[in-house]
Order: sequence, then C-alpha cells, then structure tokens
Amino acid sequence: MKVCSCNHGGLLVMIIALFVPLGYASSSFMSEPIVPKPRHSRLFKSALQQGNLNEQKSDLWTPLVNQGWKPCIDSASTSSSLPDSSGYIQVFLDGGLNQQRMGICDAVAVAKILNATLVIPYLEVNPVWKDTSSFEDIFDVGHFMNVLKDDISIIRELPDEYTWSTREYYASAIRSTRVKNAPLHASANWYLEHVSPVLESYGIAAISPFSHRLAFNNMPADIQRLRCKVNFEALTFVPHVRNLGDMLVNRLRFPAVESDDAAGTEHLKQVVDTASTKHVGKFVALHLRFDKDMAAHSACDFGGGKAEKKALARYRKTIWQGRVLNSRFTDEELRNQGRCPLTPEEIGLLLTALGFDNSTRLYLASHKVYGGEDRIAALKKLFPQIEDKKSLASAVERSQIKGKASLSAAVDYYVSMHSDIFVSASPGNMHNAMVGHRTYLNLKTIRPNMVLLGQLFMNKSMNWSDFQAEVVEGQRNRLGEIKIRKEKQSIYTYPVPDCVCKQD
Ligand SMILES: *[C@@H]1O[C@H](CO)[C@@H](O)[C@H](O)[C@H]1NC(C)=O
Ligand SMILES: *[C@@H]1O[C@H](CO)[C@@H](O)[C@H](O)[C@H]1NC(C)=O
Ligand SMILES: *[C@@H]1O[C@H](CO)[C@@H](O)[C@H](O)[C@H]1NC(C)=O
Ligand SMILES: *[C@@H]1O[C@H](CO)[C@@H](O)[C@H](O)[C@H]1NC(C)=O
Repeated sequence: MKVCSCNHGGLLVMIIALFVPLGYASSSFMSEPIVPKPRHSRLFKSALQQGNLNEQKSDLWTPLVNQGWKPCIDSASTSSSLPDSSGYIQVFLDGGLNQQRMGICDAVAVAKILNATLVIPYLEVNPVWKDTSSFEDIFDVGHFMNVLKDDISIIRELPDEYTWSTREYYASAIRSTRVKNAPLHASANWYLEHVSPVLESYGIAAISPFSHRLAFNNMPADIQRLRCKVNFEALTFVPHVRNLGDMLVNRLRFPAVESDDAAGTEHLKQVVDTASTKHVGKFVALHLRFDKDMAAHSACDFGGGKAEKKALARYRKTIWQGRVLNSRFTDEELRNQGRCPLTPEEIGLLLTALGFDNSTRLYLASHKVYGGEDRIAALKKLFPQIEDKKSLASAVERSQIKGKASLSAAVDYYVSMHSDIFVSASPGNMHNAMVGHRTYLNLKTIRPNMVLLGQLFMNKSMNWSDFQAEVVEGQRNRLGEIKIRKEKQSIYTYPVPDCVCKQD
C-alpha cells in the first residue's frame, strides 16, 4: 500500500533527524512571512454554500453499530506466579509520543518473551518536539504496573548494583550490555538468540535503538494480546492530563454550561435550538499534523508560492541534508500517490463533501500549524465552531502542559479518543494510533482515501457535485468499518483479529 511506504519514509527520516545536534531550529529560522492562498477556490465557494445548507444525513453522527466484534485480550495462561526473572531489560525510546507508545508495548512483549524484568522505559528527548517529560510524567505508572502485574515484572528503577546502566553510560563508549543491532521487525527468536545470552552473562541488557524492533508476523498469540493489553488497557495518562482532557471534552460538548451568566445561558439555548436533535453535544476531533516538519518532509507544494518552496527546501537541507525521498518526485506525482498531507482547506472540503455543515464543532488536535492563522482561515470559514486547547482553556488551566509537546500530544490523544468522530489530515503515527485504539472500542473514525483525494484536488475542472459524489463513493467503508490486519501491518493500527475477536 502506498500510504504505508510514505509512513516508513517518515520513520527513517525521524531516525536520521536524531543525529542532528539539538538547537538547529532557531526561532528566526522558523518564521518566514508566508501567506498561503486558497488552492481550490472553485470548490471552496461551492462548499461554503453547501456547508450552510447541508441537511446532515441522519447517520452522520450516529455511533457505529455493533459490527459483531469485541476485544479479546485476556491471555489463556492461568498460572498465578511469574517465572523467575532472567534479568533486566532497558529500552531507550525515540520519536514523538505515539511512536514511543508503540515502543513501550513492544518492550513489554520482549520482556515477556525473555522472562525478563522490564525497567520503566526511558523516553528520549526528541529533537523536534524537545519535551523532557519522563514516562512517569506522562503515563500513570501505578496503573501501568498494576494492569500488567500478572504478565511481567516491572520496576521503576534499577537496583543499586545496576545503577551504572544509564543512557549516558551507553552514549559514551561501546558497552557489552548494550544491544544495538536489533533489526527492524525482529522475530521473537532473534531476541531469544541474541538478548538472552546478554542477560545470562550480565543480568541486564539495554536495547537501543528499539523503535519498530519487534515483528508483527509470526508472533505467538499471547504476545500479540499482551501488546494490545499494554496499548489499550495499561497505558493511561497521568491524572492532570486526563482532568484537563475531561474539561476540554465537557466544554466541547456543553459550550455554555460552565458560564452561568445570562449570555452563556442564552448561547446554550441557541445552540440547542438550532442544532435541534442532530448532533447536540457532539464533536469531531481533527488531527492536523501540518507543522513545518511535516510540510517540509512531504515535499509537496502547499500553495505558498516561491517563498514557501524555498523555505521548505532550506529546512530539508538543514535537517535531513536533503535526504528526503519525496523530494525526488514532482508535486503532481506525490499527489497522484496520495503522499501529501491534506491542508486545512482540503480537510474542510472533505468534511463538507461528507455532509458536515457549519454548525459542526471541530476540535483541532495539533501542535503547530505551519502558516498559522492564515492557513487555518479557509477551514474556519467552513467550520466557524473550531476550537483547540487555547480557545477552550485558560493559560492557568493549561499551565502544567505549557511548552511540553508530549503532554500536549497526550491531551490531544485523550480528547480525540473521546470525540464522536476522528479524522486526520495525514496517515502518520497519531492517525494510526487513533485508528487502532478507536477500532478497539468501535468508535467512528474517518480514514481519508489519500490517493483519491490527491487526484481529485489536482483536477481543476471538477465541479462540486462531481467532487462530492467521488468523495462519498471513495470514503465508503472508510468510516470505522472493521478492517482485518494484513500480514506485516501494525497490530497497533489494526488490532483485528489478534486482539478484537468475532462475537459468538
Ligand atoms: C451557518 O450558515 C447559516 C446560513 O448561511 C448561517 O445563518 C449560520 O449563522 C451559520 N452558522 C454558523 C455557526 O456560522
Ligand atoms: C520463561 O519461563 C517459562 C516458564 O517458566 C519457561 O517455560 C520458558 O522456557 C522461559 N523462557 C526463557 C527464555 O527463559
Ligand atoms: C477531471 O474531472 C472531470 C469532471 O469530473 C473529468 O471529466 C475528468 O476526466 C477529470 N480529469 C482527470 C485528469 O482526472
Ligand atoms: C458537473 O460536471 C459534470 C461534467 O463533468 C456535468 O455533467 C454536471 O452537469 C456538472 N454539474 C453541475 C451542477 O454543474
């Protein structure tokens, strides 16, 4: 599948990016005065009329029906005590929050395969996101250990005799307790053959790099289920993230309830009146990973003209020394292959074509949008009720996540999981995480047909009715319908049938 190779491109580049010294992205370098123009003005005009008139189809907001599947992660083993520990496993995890999340699940699985004791994973500081938050700063570590207590043993910190085994220790020289050659998607046997001996000799093994280092094929069923158990049951966020998330969800669902002044009450009454029973209290979470990093990496043309092209090329050169696979293709080729993230304008057109009207509440789950307010303007015109963390919560309420990209991403993950419908502008890690987690809970998720949309948006002679018909047709079975995992696909994106089973 083409969309997949695009993901892997992103992954490789993110790994390369780790070797770039910190601090390359000075703020002056980030801020060119680029004013993106609407690229699809003809469709946009029709969408604007359409969005105001849309008689939303009644099934647009209804939850997914029971599709005959349910989570099945309880392992068959009933043995009450864990086998003797073969030693300690440490992992150091690269990437943003959602990539680290998969690493945590894989680390638990590897510890299980080896009968080892897992040390709470170390989260590397990502050079793009720069958040120094630890595992315990983000995830509820007590809950994590408790949910997994019958599966593996986990410790927060190494015992005194092993405290020398640190990230700094491994960064400074070649060490015999470090396993640095785990292949991408290694088998369970690889770990038994290569890591068990290290544990036997030294009592500890530090595996780094560890991202994407455990295969999805030919894994024992209980290991697959354990991976899902970690991802969907053991990993919950710290209370302050969940509390802020709940507050945001509440304000999205009940816009004026919290302010008890007359204006607020009036506003609520109006919301209830105009929305009638269509979708009161419902919202769509939209993940727009449209930051400069993504824009540059995709190598697509986003309509900012020469200045934008030059700025993005300069960014690619600085960060990836020009080694970006996509930049070998023309914009047209990339769009034909569905390799360009949808712009906010294009997401707006997609949602309108699917039947969402201008009363739809949108929650913008994003870090930064490259091009800022100007880039968002078109989307806002179609969907005036667009909110984000900043519009919904005060600076004081957000103080604990201020400047913390991972905690901020955690809040977005939480709110997105609580949305009625989730949609993402590009099939990256957040999209994949949501597709998987929401499938596990049978929640509605729009998976944009990137190839089709890329082609439709290139066709300048397309009128609205043709566009809408093509979109509706092309999104058939891409709105949360169960999709069985294919060989090699990620169990974290496609948990069916390994962790979600047919109901009898
Ligand atoms: C939606 O469009 C209608 C018709 O133009 C307009 O009356 C209404 O105020 C709009 N709603 C919002 C929330 O902007
Ligand atoms: C792990 O423990 C189980 C149960 O005691 C045992 O059967 C298995 O061989 C052990 N595996 C390793 C790699 O030590
Ligand atoms: C563009 O859209 C028009 C109208 O729907 C269609 O007839 C035409 O074949 C499309 N062109 C391409 C290159 O797909
Ligand atoms: C849209 O274009 C198609 C041809 O591509 C045409 O058959 C149709 O009548 C047009 N619709 C409108 C509303 O203009």
